[in-house]
Amino acid sequence: MNISAGNFLKVLMAALLLISAAGLMDGKKASANAADHTLNVAHRGASGYTPENTMAAFDRAFEMKADFIEIDVHMSADGEVVAIHDLMVDRTTDGSGRVNDFTLEELRQLDAGSWFGPEFAGAQIPTLDEILDAYRGKIGILIEIKDPSAHPGIEAAVAEALAERNMDKPNNGKIIVQSFDHGSVAHFNSLLPNVPTGVLVGNLTDGISDEALAQFATYADYFNPNHRMVDENLVERVHAHGLKIAPYTINDQTRVNELIDNGVDGIISDFPDLISHTGKPQ
Ligand code: G3P
Ligand code: CA
Repeated sequence: MNISAGNFLKVLMAALLLISAAGLMDGKKASANAADHTLNVAHRGASGYTPENTMAAFDRAFEMKADFIEIDVHMSADGEVVAIHDLMVDRTTDGSGRVNDFTLEELRQLDAGSWFGPEFAGAQIPTLDEILDAYRGKIGILIEIKDPSAHPGIEAAVAEALAERNMDKPNNGKIIVQSFDHGSVAHFNSLLPNVPTGVLVGNLTDGISDEALAQFATYADYFNPNHRMVDENLVERVHAHGLKIAPYTINDQTRVNELIDNGVDGIISDFPDLISHTGKPQ
């Protein structure tokens, strides 16, 4: 059969469209962020320069052109989702006690900035709503659900905050929800299956099995480990399971460069200036 150059091009374009549509329908994998460079994720905001999990930290990350801010979320006594790392307020505020023993109004009276430096005095613990409203469309938001067993319903509360802003659509690429509690990740995925998710693990000295990676891939898009367990082989195995990998927390330029050479999809760092905007080693 003879085929003209014009018809050949049309057939080629149709084939490419079909392949791309198939990709879009390929469940979790298709909903992951398709970045063409190593994502620069500002850990708890630009927390090397500003008090973690405050608007000052997120603003600084935005100014530094990070791709994502990473935030840690807990729930207040009255069910508001707030950004703070620890289960206790003691380390990062002038208060004392468990986050979920405070109402939102009480949490908002705490000073979440002075511990880092006097110029940040009066910084408040932000709410998830406030963060989504301030940064949606400007910078990606990697939401880590902390201690979900202490906060029944937190997955639904996070899902509701996203859905009411239409941030639950397929391929938005700008929201990822992750947790060390893998049951929580699977639960969140069942609520908003189009929002990319990540499983966090510590530095597993025995490594991670193919069976575990295959299981994660049924409900997650990212496998985000402590960077100490990452090498090129792990990156290849993670990718072979259709997962992306964004290790944490790397604050050393040499290690950042090694991991980019290893092919990681993202780097989570307190210092967003360690990761070049090209995603190439600096
Ligand atoms: O995003 C991963 C990293 O934040 C997990 O550790 O303790 O800093 O929340 P942690
Ligand atoms: Ca975190």
